[in-house]
Amino acid sequence: MYSKELISVVAAFGLVSGAAALSCKDDPVEINSQADATQAANCDTITHDLVLGTQAGPDINLGGDLTEIKGSLIVKNNGLLQSLSSSSLQTVGGAFQLNNVTSLTSLVFPELGEVGSIDWTTLSSLQEPTFGTPGITKAESVIVADTFVSNLDGINVQDVTDMNINNNRRLSKFSTSIKTLSNALYVTANALNMTMEMPNLEWIANMTIANVSTFSVPSLKYVNGSMRFDSNYFTEFYAANLTEIHDGDLSFVSNPQLTNISIPQLERVGGGVTIANNTELTKIDGLGSLSRVGGAIKMRGSFDEIDLPELNDVVGTAEFVSTEDITESCDKLNELSGNVVQGKVTECKGLVATANNDTSSAGDGSSGSGSGSNDDSAASLASASMSTVFTLAALGGLVATFL
Ligand SMILES: *[C@@H]1O[C@H](CO)[C@@H](O)[C@H](O)[C@H]1NC(C)=O
Ligand SMILES: *[C@@H]1O[C@H](CO)[C@@H](O)[C@H](O)[C@H]1NC(C)=O
Ligand SMILES: *[C@@H]1O[C@H](CO)[C@@H](O)[C@H](O)[C@H]1NC(C)=O
Ligand SMILES: *[C@@H]1O[C@H](CO)[C@@H](O)[C@H](O)[C@H]1NC(C)=O
Ligand SMILES: *[C@@H]1O[C@H](CO)[C@@H](O)[C@H](O)[C@H]1NC(C)=O
Ligand SMILES: *[C@@H]1O[C@H](CO)[C@@H](O)[C@H](O)[C@H]1NC(C)=O
Ligand SMILES: *[C@@H]1O[C@H](CO)[C@@H](O)[C@H](O)[C@H]1NC(C)=O
Ligand SMILES: *[C@@H]1O[C@H](CO)[C@@H](O)[C@H](O)[C@H]1NC(C)=O
Ligand SMILES: *[C@@H]1O[C@H](CO)[C@@H](O)[C@H](O)[C@H]1NC(C)=O
Repeated sequence: MYSKELISVVAAFGLVSGAAALSCKDDPVEINSQADATQAANCDTITHDLVLGTQAGPDINLGGDLTEIKGSLIVKNNGLLQSLSSSSLQTVGGAFQLNNVTSLTSLVFPELGEVGSIDWTTLSSLQEPTFGTPGITKAESVIVADTFVSNLDGINVQDVTDMNINNNRRLSKFSTSIKTLSNALYVTANALNMTMEMPNLEWIANMTIANVSTFSVPSLKYVNGSMRFDSNYFTEFYAANLTEIHDGDLSFVSNPQLTNISIPQLERVGGGVTIANNTELTKIDGLGSLSRVGGAIKMRGSFDEIDLPELNDVVGTAEFVSTEDITESCDKLNELSGNVVQGKVTECKGLVATANNDTSSAGDGSSGSGSGSNDDSAASLASASMSTVFTLAALGGLVATFL
């Protein structure tokens, strides 16, 4: 093993082929070959960013003395890199950014535990990143978009601001240990029958979930913003402990196999409630505690019964339309018009063949009363090409702007 000094001296005199002298304090440390990587790996700490050039590869090993990169670890637009590893790296202060690294098949970081953020997009060959146990336990935000990954087991974060998992066509299981999420979770267009489990999730600011086959949030108590489920394939939705959706909307649109929505302890929704075009949902009987709604209510579908026994205050309008006969439910619901439902029950009608055609969210549309619900509606989300929008948003880091 050469000493660090010797390597720097040798490198400085150009005796190591292709390698220029590289200092641990370079801003950034730039790697264009394994020789550069070997020098960088001799640093205990890299003070600024470490950037791999577009021609670095095919195999880059950053294992050695290197335990910390204070800045970001960045690889962008590199079509040559096939493997990237470090047996020693523990911390990346900034982003662990891999964007458009299309030949990368092997990513091995057994000691990596903390990163500022994970930003992985367009990694079309990456199947299974390898981390240690417990893997990455700290990251402020996580974006994994347009990859070939089949599992994300090495990402074991608990508290994050944002998580965006989209267009990972082989990702059929996403089980995450997160407990809190303070801005937005997006999950869409992954493997067609993706199982999603968030056993420890207690509160979340906003979530938008699409194209998921099973979904579980047994510990969820509180949603600060909105919760939206579009085009999923789960048959049941059950959130046993959820009591409040504070500022935003609750929305279930076009979930073709959904037979049961059960949120028995939900008392308040700050925005609107939309349940539309879930054609197998024959009864709305799982919102037994719902008492206050800050926006409008819109329920359209193929149900024959709507039970909202505790409903006590709806600020906006309410609309109930079904392909089936709902006369009995309407008798009760119409009584709420003007008193409980401040914006009036604008429509309560059964045997309407087109009941499932209108999927715009409560609060917008002609019958809406300018309720408190947000206008970044389920309808506009559903009509945009989700995959394109999310991939672009993820690539540009524009997730928050898009919202
Ligand atoms: C992705 O990287 C390749 C090089 O591997 C480059 O030719 C291409 O332009 C990059 N794509 C984008 C969208 O930047
Ligand atoms: C969300 O609500 C929880 C529980 O009330 C609270 O602890 C948390 O600070 C809130 N988070 C945000 C981002 O508002
Ligand atoms: C769906 O998931 C099950 C396991 O949950 C698996 O056996 C099946 O092959 C998957 N189907 C598709 C089309 O991916
Ligand atoms: C649901 O809430 C109850 C009462 O707060 C608690 O005892 C129970 O553990 C919670 N269930 C889960 C799965 O967190
Ligand atoms: C998430 O919800 C909060 C309310 O807790 C809201 O202020 C914020 O703008 C929302 N963020 C996104 C990205 O929707
Ligand atoms: C996935 O969800 C999006 C958004 O709701 C929807 O437009 C799209 O059709 C869904 N794709 C599949 C295959 O279900
Ligand atoms: C939905 O599930 C809940 C709880 O499991 C149950 O009480 C309710 O009867 C179910 N509703 C329908 C329509 O199956
Ligand atoms: C409503 O949907 C049905 C069946 O999907 C379709 O045949 C009909 O043309 C639609 N009607 C309108 C007014 O969009
Ligand atoms: C209703 O849901 C079905 C199945 O998911 C979907 O094909 C259809 O386009 C949806 N209708 C509307 C108006 O969104």
